[in-house]
Amino acid sequence: MRAILKKITHPFLKYTSQKYFSKPRIYGFEGIKVKVMPEVFPPHCTLSTKILLEYLKPLDLNEKTLLELGSGSGIIALYAASKGAKVTASDINTIALTALKENSSQNGLDIEIVESDLFQNIKQQRFDYIIINPPYYAKQPKNIKEQAWFCGENFEYFQKLFEELTTRTDHTILMILSQDCDIMHIKHIAKQWSLHLTIEQEQTKLLEQNYIFRISKDD
Ligand SMILES: C[S@@+](CC[C@H](N)C(=O)[O-])C[C@H]1O[C@@H](n2cnc3c(N)ncnc32)[C@H](O)[C@@H]1O
Repeated sequence: MRAILKKITHPFLKYTSQKYFSKPRIYGFEGIKVKVMPEVFPPHCTLSTKILLEYLKPLDLNEKTLLELGSGSGIIALYAASKGAKVTASDINTIALTALKENSSQNGLDIEIVESDLFQNIKQQRFDYIIINPPYYAKQPKNIKEQAWFCGENFEYFQKLFEELTTRTDHTILMILSQDCDIMHIKHIAKQWSLHLTIEQEQTKLLEQNYIFRISKDD
């Protein structure tokens, strides 16, 4: 029963079945508004973006450097910039990045926007914070829209992410995952790269458990 319920409520199925997201839609947080294009991950659909935004709320980000890796609509990047952070937003989805340029000027918030496959074009070697809301369902993405949801049949996104993280010197790397995905397997891949995922925050909302993990190097 739970499996059937899960299938019906799977966020990606819910999202693709809604005509609502076939048009640009507005998403807002704390006075910041972004136009989300149909090809871009809609933060309205899942709890993950909102949980990360709420997590950042009490933090003192003034003058802190922050990278939103895979920024989608960029609402997290723009919110961090509104709190005084020096923000870089990156994505492989060029439609998302073009819209983010427009959204950043509409909100009067200046951020650096970089087209990059993971860290490929990220020049800065160290950020105070890296925030990641990854694609975490194990399936091969068929197009740019699906790349926001699917990490590859063999979790290729995570293989590459963890490999690239081993050479970096960032202070705090936070990544959100839901109980909906195979957390044990993702942790196992991290371990292969001598990385460790520890729970920074756990939240249950609408029967779904979400975890913000801190990624660190094994001692
Ligand atoms: C789940 S969405 C999260 C979007 C946004 N951070 C948020 O929280 O609303 C994942 C994002 O990662 C991007 N992405 C997927 N694979 C990527 C890669 N290899 N390099 C950079 N970005 C990637 C997708 O295009 C998408 O925008």
